[in-house]
Amino acid sequence: SSAEYDTDVIVVGTGPMGATATLALATYGVRVQAVTRWNWLAPTPRSHTTNQRAVEVLRDLGVEEEAVRYATPWDLMGDMTIATSFAGPEIARLRLWGTGDDRHGDYVQGSPCPMLDLIQPLLEQLLVTNAARRGAQISLNTEYLRHEQDDDAVTVTLKDLTTGRVYTRRAQFLVGADGARSQIADEIGLEIVGHHARAGHVYAAFTADLSQYVAHRPSTLNYIMNPATGYGEIGMALLRATRPWDRWIAGWGIDLNGGEPDLDHGRALERIRTLVGDPELQAEIEWVAPWYVNQAFALCYSNGRVFCGGDAVHRHPPSSGLGSNTSIQDAFNLAWKLAFVARGFAGRGLLDSYSKERVPVGKQVVARSNQSRFDYSALREAVAVPDCDDPTAARLEKIRARTPEGAKTRAALYEALKLKRYEFNAHGVELNQRYESSAVLPDRLTGEEVWARDPQLYLQATTRPGAKIPHAWLVDERGRRVSTLDAVGKGMFTVLTGLSGEAWVNAAQKLDLPYVRTVVVGDAQHQDLYGYWAEIREIEEAGVLLVRPDGYIAWRISGAVHETDKATRLLRNALGMVL
Ligand code: FDA
Repeated sequence: SSAEYDTDVIVVGTGPMGATATLALATYGVRVQAVTRWNWLAPTPRSHTTNQRAVEVLRDLGVEEEAVRYATPWDLMGDMTIATSFAGPEIARLRLWGTGDDRHGDYVQGSPCPMLDLIQPLLEQLLVTNAARRGAQISLNTEYLRHEQDDDAVTVTLKDLTTGRVYTRRAQFLVGADGARSQIADEIGLEIVGHHARAGHVYAAFTADLSQYVAHRPSTLNYIMNPATGYGEIGMALLRATRPWDRWIAGWGIDLNGGEPDLDHGRALERIRTLVGDPELQAEIEWVAPWYVNQAFALCYSNGRVFCGGDAVHRHPPSSGLGSNTSIQDAFNLAWKLAFVARGFAGRGLLDSYSKERVPVGKQVVARSNQSRFDYSALREAVAVPDCDDPTAARLEKIRARTPEGAKTRAALYEALKLKRYEFNAHGVELNQRYESSAVLPDRLTGEEVWARDPQLYLQATTRPGAKIPHAWLVDERGRRVSTLDAVGKGMFTVLTGLSGEAWVNAAQKLDLPYVRTVVVGDAQHQDLYGYWAEIREIEEAGVLLVRPDGYIAWRISGAVHETDKATRLLRNALGMVL
């Protein structure tokens, strides 16, 4: 019983992975203690692009509205300029993250949630304070030292850094959300393949009112192609708003073979003035720090009672904006499984599905975000100029030349920009995860999934087991729009059928399980007035979907079933296999 343990789950780390796991576990009614060695949460902005799937997780956990309040809104996120300086001529523009007219419909059709620019300190605050409100213990200034596991428990040794006291806690499970230098991943012997410190950057955070440069082309992310900062595979400097439009981070590549990077504040200010294109710019530098690009992932995420996630198991650059998004989704995949086992609803075998499902995602994310960096070479080459006194003038002349050569340059530039869709409008990369594991029962009758469009760029909504339930707007009894995603999740399995699926309703009633709810699309709370659900559900009205707490489809019966006994047998069997 849970009384034998000091707590059910200990989470090491309060970054996006640890904080999401802690919030979800507390929401599901599991006892959880999260520890971080620091006095507070992430002190610097770090990750910020929060994709729709991550916001869907926040929505399920009941904190989406609060996230929207803290975040820079979607419509200010993505009219990205590539310019010679903020004040100077532009080379190109890109509409990012589904803000462009060509992609916006796909994004809003695919999810009830917006993209958000939510900087990491605010994201962590949101997650951790809500977790604490829901009963999680949050131990700041607490260092994880080591753990031991046996058949029944994991014993974790912690050190209270305010007093120096070392103490142990017995828990059912340990979550290693301890970041890119994960000690826990090491200790449990996770094999990590790839490269570390493949490239390097300097970030300089500063305060300056730059609204005059972005008010007419709002974007929290912008690139500057300028000889002051040409080093590295991106070959451009970054100007990223962390609060529109007066708090910023400037970033530039460093030469890993060139000795220690230059972190001098005075020289950083000079560089920022060049990037902005205002030699008189009044800016206050807050900090200057280097960071390094990794390309590595773990082949397995768990060992016994210990589960790693986030940067502990996948390490990659910020390009494509997948860092904290992937960490949030690792946590959301893991949390309900831990909760189900801790509460006795499922056997320990369910926990093996975490690694099985998330390893392929981590691997893909590491490859994609590194590829996004390599893909800048086409852009650089398209507008490259020979060494000269004024490369910026030469570059503009080349791009604007009224000659056949000029036409070739422009054609190459537009081709290079197209490649960037795979970084900035990769809706499929963000939402098309498919899970294969013991917690998903594949259709016996349907073959391999056929992708109608480019799976990286376009979301393919499907109710195939292993996919996330598609979003469709339904209408509740008060006439308000609710998403199919709102009808499922929140820590429970959902048996989802239609008005003529009475047999499934009866079956769920017969099984009478505390962790299963029934949703009938078409009833007063879930009216399919638009007919959207009927169009995308891929099953007959009296068929059924069994949707997991994380919104993924565990199992479906496409054909109509009208006999309660048969439905009961099938449903009992499916739940038994999954859990
Ligand atoms: P994360 O590293 O956030 O958290 C680790 C946690 O473990 C911390 O709370 C730490 O205190 C704790 N911990 C570790 N060891 C411990 C111990 N022994 N005892 C107690 N606590 C311990 N990503 C992105 O997508 N876009 C971006 O622009 C950037 N930019 C960026 C800049 C900089 C400077 C950094 C360092 C990182 C980024 N990232 C990023 C990466 C992004 O921050 C990263 O993907 C997520 O923070 C990963 O979240 P995790 O929760 O896995 O680890």
